[in-house]
Formats: sequence, structure tokens, C-alpha cells
Amino acid sequence: MRQTKTRCAAGKLAIDGGPKAKATPYRKGMRFGRDELKELKEALAQNTLFYAHGQKVRQFCETLASKYGRKYAVATTSGTAAIHVALGAVGVGVGDEVVTSVLTDAGSFIPILYQNAVPVFADIDPRTYMMTPETIEAKLTPRTKAILVVHLAGNAADMDGILKLARRRKLMVVEDCAQSWNCFYKGRPVGTLGHIGCYSLNDYKHLSVGDGGVVLTDNARLAKRAALFADKCYSRNMWGQRTGRLCQFLAPNYRMSELSGAVGLAQLRKVDGICRTRNAHGTLLTKLIADAPGILPPAITPGCESSNWYYLFRMDPKVLGVSRDRFAEALKAEGVPAGFYLRRVDQYEMFQKMTIRTSRKKGFVCPYDCPAYGGGRIAYRVDDCPNAELVLKTGVIVQMSEFYSRQDMVETAGAIRKVAEAFAARRRT
Ligand SMILES: Cc1ncc(COP(=O)(O)O)c(C=O)c1O
Repeated sequence: MRQTKTRCAAGKLAIDGGPKAKATPYRKGMRFGRDELKELKEALAQNTLFYAHGQKVRQFCETLASKYGRKYAVATTSGTAAIHVALGAVGVGVGDEVVTSVLTDAGSFIPILYQNAVPVFADIDPRTYMMTPETIEAKLTPRTKAILVVHLAGNAADMDGILKLARRRKLMVVEDCAQSWNCFYKGRPVGTLGHIGCYSLNDYKHLSVGDGGVVLTDNARLAKRAALFADKCYSRNMWGQRTGRLCQFLAPNYRMSELSGAVGLAQLRKVDGICRTRNAHGTLLTKLIADAPGILPPAITPGCESSNWYYLFRMDPKVLGVSRDRFAEALKAEGVPAGFYLRRVDQYEMFQKMTIRTSRKKGFVCPYDCPAYGGGRIAYRVDDCPNAELVLKTGVIVQMSEFYSRQDMVETAGAIRKVAEAFAARRRT
């Protein structure tokens, strides 16, 4: 039987001059190799890097759509672009509100604002970190057009509850799966549960093409609009030539290049292995730290298999007698890079000072002051989202990698336990 118990690493903390709990470096690996090179060479040999004339972006889209059991995929230049394309496809525009998570990347709300719609931020569950049907419902108004569900950190939101709410209130559901590639919710990959799903392929994500994105849907009308929205509203025939009515509506150019498509195709072949390993690492870490004093491991949404983009747990300052920053500092000293990079997006300067857009008309802030909206300025208040605030003050992020070994995870758990046990003991005395 394999060893799963962490050795009790109690003793002098490294931050106080003691030995490090994780003395060996984390295992590393190469994300790109022969497979990517082969695809890239083939892309260059086509003598075109334009998606509409080459095969790589098309193959990437077809492979992903068929893998995830959806009919249509449209590739984009980033995850932010994918969300913009999805919002454009479902018809979000002036006068609309979109409810999304308060704990996410700016890439979730930027596209809402670019559509001249208003982002409304919902609180999260303090253990899964996901927006919930209840926190979403609390933010719905007659102006709400869509819910942009953020699946954070490899975990999934409660999609059954959210879809039920959306059906009842006749809302479109867009899924932001940037952090949750290959996360399965009741057997289905996230991004295939709502009307349209969005993924990121930036360099930090499970799969990378440097920067890229993709949307998935089963709806032919949404797919057609998404394809137009990603390509300046140029409609194209099967040979990539522009045909029919061009530029019927405003749309940016978010076309993925054949080089990105080629790398994406090779990366897709690795996604199962990458996410399986990350799932195993997260499950092991939770098992090993579950009973450490003052430690609250992440709760995985029932029915979900997390792909653990990173590992976010919480510490209880009352039990440990220290702040989160002090705890993270101690963990770092033990050899485990730890911190907290997430922000409450509603507290960004642009929302607090309403500096979203410069306008020649002084004091007019689009989209809030737009007569077509009619809702006025939203005061994004700190106490609106108490659970997010709690996670912000007590959350600790430990990086994850498919290259880490099982031993790396055992040692990481040992370091977390050592720090927690030492602080808890000091607190008791
Ligand atoms: C939850 C979430 N949504 C959207 C994005 C935007 O993706 P991209 O950086 O590819 O534009 C990110 C990227 O970090 C993200 O984490």
C-alpha cells in the first residue's frame, strides 16, 4: 500500500529558523514538445495561417466539440474574447444586466462592459467559492438578461440549481470555464450545461496556446452568431470566402491563428492526463490536511470532479491566532509557494470611482447613466458580498501542476500541517 500519511512535521517553523518541511524542489516538466512541433510544421506547410483557409483551427474546434459532445465550437484569441463572443451571441447589449461572480478574473466582466451592459456581482459560497442559485437570485432584476457562471479553480458551480433558476426567470446561461477545463459536473464537462460555454487557453491555464479561447454550444443560431461575432461579422462560405450580408452588426476581430490552432490541437490530446493528475493531487491534499487544526480544505461541489487549476483552502485566524498573510509567509518559508492573488472584482477602482470610460460629456458614465439602461449607478459595496470578503481574508492558494509528483503533494500537506499545528499550539498556550 502506498504511503498517504504525512510524517508529523511538527517542530520549529522555518520562519523562526527551523528546517524547511519541503526541502526538495517541486518536480517540473515541459508543456510543449514533439507533438506541438509537428502540428506547427504542418500549419506552416499549409502556406496560410488564416483560420478560414487552413485546417488547424477547424480541426481544433471539431476535436473539442466532439470530445465534449457539443455540435459547434468557435475559436477566439483569448478567454476574455470567448466570453465577449458568447455575450454577443446570446444578445447581451445596452440596457441589460449580467450577473456574474464577485471572485473572478477581470476577463469575466470586461466583455459585459464592452457590450454596454452592466455587470452585477453575486456573492459566493464560502467553501466551494462558487456563486450559488441563492446568491444569483438575490441580484436578479427585470433588467437581467444573462447569468455568466464562473467555475472557479477547477471546481464547478451548482449547475442544476442555476439552470432551474434560469429557466424560471427566462435567462440565458453563459459558462466561464477558463479555470475549469475537463471539470465534470454529474458526468458532463462544464461548458456544456448552459446555452454556451467559454474556455481560456492563456499560458496559465490547464492547456495553453500562449493566448487563445474557444466557445462551445449546441444551438445553431448561437453558433452562427458566435462565428460572426468573432470575425468582424463577415459571413463566410465553406472555402472561407466572404459571402452574403456582411457587417450586419458590430463585431470585433477575435480570429484565432492557425499557429494557435495547431498548438491547441496537440494540447487537447493531453487534457485528460493533465486534469486526471490535478484531480488526484487535489483529492490527496484534501485528505491529508482535512483534520489539521484551523484548516478548511475546499469543498468540491456535489457531483463534481475538480481539475484543480490551483488549490484554494482557508485558514481560521481564531484557531491559529495569526492573519492569513502571516500564515502564507510561514508556509512560503517552509518551501511551499503560497499566497492569494484573487481580488474582489467589484472593488476595482473602475467600479469604485466609476472611471470605466472617459467621456466627452463630463460626469456621464456609460453604461450606468445611459437612458436606455435606466438603472443608474450601482454602489458596489464591500458588505454586499460577505462570503467573498471572508475568503479574501482567510484564503490561501497553493499552486498546482500536473508535473508535481505524489511526493510533492505529501510534502506540501506536511508543510501545511506543520504550520497549522505550530500556530494552533502557540495559540493554546
Ligand atoms: C475565470 C476567468 N475568466 C476569464 C479569464 C480570461 O481569460 P484570458 O486571460 O484568456 O482572456 C480568466 C483568465 O485568467 C479567468 O481566470
